[in-house]
Amino acid sequence: MSIVVTGASGQLGRLTVEALLARGVPAADVIATSRDIARIKDFADRGVVVRRADFVEPDSLAAAFEGADKLLLISTTTVDERVANHRRAIDAAVTAGVSLVAYTSMSHADRATTVLASTHRVTEEYLRERAVPSVMLRNSWYLENYTAQLPLVLRNGVVVGSAGQGRISAAARADYADAAAVVLTTEGHAGEVYELGGDEAFTLAELAAAISAASGKQVTYTDLPADGLAQVLTGAGLPAELAHVLVDADLGMSRGELFTASGDLRRLIGRPTTPPADAIADALR
Ligand SMILES: NC(=O)c1ccc[n+]([C@@H]2O[C@H](COP(=O)([O-])OP(=O)(O)OC[C@H]3O[C@@H](n4cnc5c(N)ncnc54)[C@H](OP(=O)(O)O)[C@@H]3O)[C@@H](O)[C@H]2O)c1
Repeated sequence: MSIVVTGASGQLGRLTVEALLARGVPAADVIATSRDIARIKDFADRGVVVRRADFVEPDSLAAAFEGADKLLLISTTTVDERVANHRRAIDAAVTAGVSLVAYTSMSHADRATTVLASTHRVTEEYLRERAVPSVMLRNSWYLENYTAQLPLVLRNGVVVGSAGQGRISAAARADYADAAAVVLTTEGHAGEVYELGGDEAFTLAELAAAISAASGKQVTYTDLPADGLAQVLTGAGLPAELAHVLVDADLGMSRGELFTASGDLRRLIGRPTTPPADAIADALR
């Protein structure tokens, strides 16, 4: 039984390959893909099958997915090209005759109104249109989106955002990866839609308080209007399009679009999710 993990060079993909191996899947049954296989040479050295796949090149996808039983389709990075990329990957999965496509979608992709969610909604629709057995892994935000910002936050003593009082069910990438590994190695997931998120949702004010508690430094939350946040992000060097997508995501958070109380993540991984305070403490070490 071969399991393909796309985006295996990326942070979520790497953790998913590790989670599959940790769950006892033989390395020879895991196919890790990247546009540049040199980036995943370490997996090849451990016996994982490594193949080149570029979602822009259908031929590379056909070769990469050949003989695959299950496929984890990790959403690609660039928002503009995402839907076309995913359609090509889904077409290749259908041609390869996979028995299951697990897709890393986003919270409430069917009804959330952000730009990001719309790319996931269209991809989910295409999976249904192509009638390939599929399971939606609707991931909320990554905790690492916040912990990666800790040096800056501590320097400035402030978390900035436009999420208002919205609660965010952010979870650690490793927990989402473990959930993906469970779905790929156990039966009964075709047709399911999992709303995956951390057990402890938080507002950005609560995140600032948790950072204060862990660091001993006073950190507060400043809620900015959308154009104010866009200015901060572009001022920090982000391209305007990315800043727009991130501001839009924060506005989605303010409407509760990255909140879930489903418990799906903890149920799938069979343990409580990583508490935000632990992720912050780890990042500060
Ligand atoms: N939930 C969240 O908070 C959140 C935040 C950011 C992103 N995301 C989404 O989750 C995905 C995984 O997150 P991550 O942190 O693992 O991202 P990451 O570390 O940036 O990895 C992205 C992966 O996408 C692959 N990729 C990009 N374009 C591709 C293409 N044209 N063809 C094939 N592969 C392509 C890259 O593979 P190669 O470059 O090796 O080919 C890389 O492995 C992201 O791509 C994005 O869709 C979610």
